[in-house]
Amino acid sequence: MNEKKAWWKEAVIYQIYPRSFADSNGDGIGDIPGITAHLPYLKELGVDVIWLSPVYKSPNDDNGYDISDYRDIMDEFGTMADYDVMLAEAHKLGLKIVMDLVVNHTSDEHAWFIESRKSKDNPYRDYYIWKDGNDGKAPNNWQSCFSGSAWQYDEVAGQYYLHCFTKKQADLNWENPKVRDEVYDMMTFWCEKGIDGFRMDVISMISKDQAFPDGEISDGLYGDMSPYVTNGPRIHEFLQEMNKRVLSKYDIMTVGETPNVTVEDAKKYANDEGTELNMVFQFEHTDAASKETGVIGKWGYTHPRLSTIRAILNKWQVGLEGSAWGSLYWDNHDQPRVVSRFGNDAPQWRVLSAKMLGTLLHMMKGTPYIYQGEELGMTNMHFSSIDDCNDVEEINAYRQYVTEHQMISSEEMLKCFDAIARDNARTPMQWDDTAQAGFTTGTPWFPVNPNYKEINAKAAQADPDSVFHYYQKLIRLRHENPVIVYGKFQPLFLESETVYAYERILDGKTLTVACNWTDQPQPCPVFDGITAPDLISNYETHLAGQLQPYEARAVLV
Ligand code: GLC
Ligand code: CA
Repeated sequence: MNEKKAWWKEAVIYQIYPRSFADSNGDGIGDIPGITAHLPYLKELGVDVIWLSPVYKSPNDDNGYDISDYRDIMDEFGTMADYDVMLAEAHKLGLKIVMDLVVNHTSDEHAWFIESRKSKDNPYRDYYIWKDGNDGKAPNNWQSCFSGSAWQYDEVAGQYYLHCFTKKQADLNWENPKVRDEVYDMMTFWCEKGIDGFRMDVISMISKDQAFPDGEISDGLYGDMSPYVTNGPRIHEFLQEMNKRVLSKYDIMTVGETPNVTVEDAKKYANDEGTELNMVFQFEHTDAASKETGVIGKWGYTHPRLSTIRAILNKWQVGLEGSAWGSLYWDNHDQPRVVSRFGNDAPQWRVLSAKMLGTLLHMMKGTPYIYQGEELGMTNMHFSSIDDCNDVEEINAYRQYVTEHQMISSEEMLKCFDAIARDNARTPMQWDDTAQAGFTTGTPWFPVNPNYKEINAKAAQADPDSVFHYYQKLIRLRHENPVIVYGKFQPLFLESETVYAYERILDGKTLTVACNWTDQPQPCPVFDGITAPDLISNYETHLAGQLQPYEARAVLV
């Protein structure tokens, strides 16, 4: 096997959602000095890279994914001087920093947008996507990702502008070469500061079908824009240009967030020639979970079948082999907590199932991502009313489907939120068992999950059997065993509805992995005849021919 070697293929990445990570000054909002103070914790965990969700200046309509100044830091998070200290301290510890690059859209409070709306001949007009109405209505029927029309009429401008997300997130017009120059200059500014990479927000959406056709209506209200705004006609051209102009000049890593990406698309985005990005995030396994009995739009609440998830993950493992690199994730700031979603967060099973899920993912091929608190087995929150919710996606969906159109009941919607709302991931990091989980000395911007007395970093660090120590070992094993990084993936035991098993093969070595996805013992023959000790397992002892509830086991021969 002559797979090209790269540091970002061998790395484990940890995502920080700064608002909820650690508050240093008691205002209840996580901040950059809070991150700096906890770098030794991440060093102890053993990760290589930190991806920071956006820390730029922002009016926070979508918690920083609406940027009003790409070259400055959000007031609540600190100053550029704080940022520079954090970057230097991270580098001293050997930790790399990856920035979130949000360039599909800017805030409507960005200076470019403020200019753009002023008049049709303003030099910034074409920085955004302006259209005349259609018979007094929006230019087409597209629904924004966050409910309602994707078009907003602007009185001053006398036209509609496109916003694929909230109306305070205006889409940039990538057809305009000046926009692309601005983005590349801004990226260069951060690269020159010495950052180590970019996670590119909804980067598959920057090239739009210039015909802007109506989309298919599925929920009876609006049309689906996704075929016309994802993986669009000029996407690869734009990324290749970005690569030539910026990325190729630095030793950095890139990961694209790419809604609607297929394996075939990913082979282009993340091709091994390195002409675009290093890897992308695909959404099939996370979307499948709610799609199986979707309630409305993206909303649903079923526990997915193992065979569904396995078919998707295996397709990606096998499909990218030899031609493109992949990413591995269960959780991020847009997903519910994996132990609640795919595992079992009941006290009896929480730790075991969190370790099982960690094993399943971290023994696969690709670069693993850990979302803050995942290494503690943090769980979903419970939302008993819409007033408990903060996320603009939830609030808008509730307004559209429950309040305005009465398409589902409030109870039904809240049940969906409990299962998959983004707010599940955004409760403050649970550091210890003191008030507010040690996240803040003040009142947190969003409530702490009440289970923090049991589930917190301090307790986990003190307990050798904790999820934390297990993740620490998973990370160490990847660093020590090239087969985990570069080995070829081989699916096993595909007839099982309850066990996920596979092999990784490299240079005469075989790593065999099997995970029981259920709370019952399950037959599993894959270790029969293997006498080697475990590389890792969440059980001390094993039973022949079967896996115990949520048992995970990996053996290297
Ligand atoms: C991405 C981000 C999400 C954000 C959206 C709009 O999906 O991960 O948090 O709301 O883009 O920027
Ligand atoms: Ca603060």
